[in-house]
Amino acid sequence: MPEILPSLLAADFGHLAEQIALVESGGVTMLHLDVMDGHFVPNISFGMPVVSAVRKLSRSILDVHLMITEPDRYLAAFRDAGADQISVHQEACPHLDRTLHEIRRLGAKAGVVLNPATPVATLDHVLDVADFVLIMSVNPGFGGQKFIPYALDKVRALVRAKTNQGLDFAIEIDGGITVDNVALASEAGVDWFVAGSSVFGSADPAATVRKMHQLASGGRGLMKA
Ligand code: DX5
Ligand code: ZN
Repeated sequence: MPEILPSLLAADFGHLAEQIALVESGGVTMLHLDVMDGHFVPNISFGMPVVSAVRKLSRSILDVHLMITEPDRYLAAFRDAGADQISVHQEACPHLDRTLHEIRRLGAKAGVVLNPATPVATLDHVLDVADFVLIMSVNPGFGGQKFIPYALDKVRALVRAKTNQGLDFAIEIDGGITVDNVALASEAGVDWFVAGSSVFGSADPAATVRKMHQLASGGRGLMKA
């Protein structure tokens, strides 16, 4: 079942409650929250207080994407703030196996993220500890960037690894997702589609998420046929 995850980074922070209600009226049940530290990525976004504010505004699943160095230091704090899922970057975790186990121990779904330049094979030994894998289709740090097409080759490699190892993790994609490429990503094997500027920058965000969901579902239907 495909899911569209609006990225709040592109929302109007002065009207977060309305913006969240708007996309939820379009059928959204998962929200993506981008935490940036100005160190792992060149930009700074927000931290725990915003996650807990969103928690109070919404019953959707909160998918917290940590673009920070030393994420282990903050896992419990983000879980306490209301994160249902926490993803960490492979590039930021020297002890990835331990980090993923720790996220699960805290009671959240554990995700691992790959930057565009990081090969899927680097995850071979920890795929069974991941509830989901996030493939970056832009270099992380900013919304509104152009989709990197080879990210879909990585999605296909991940689908093969999943089949070979008999595993059941979800595949998420993040960066430059629009109504024009969501079906293509779905055909490649993506389950969860993060979309920031294409949703909140559109004239009708509720209609856009509905349309994207429809396109993502159609793509999967084609693959099975
Ligand atoms: C980029 C973030 C994304 C970002 C996506 O570093 O991880 O989640 O919000 O924004 P768009 O959909 O505009 O590329
Ligand atoms: Zn993100």
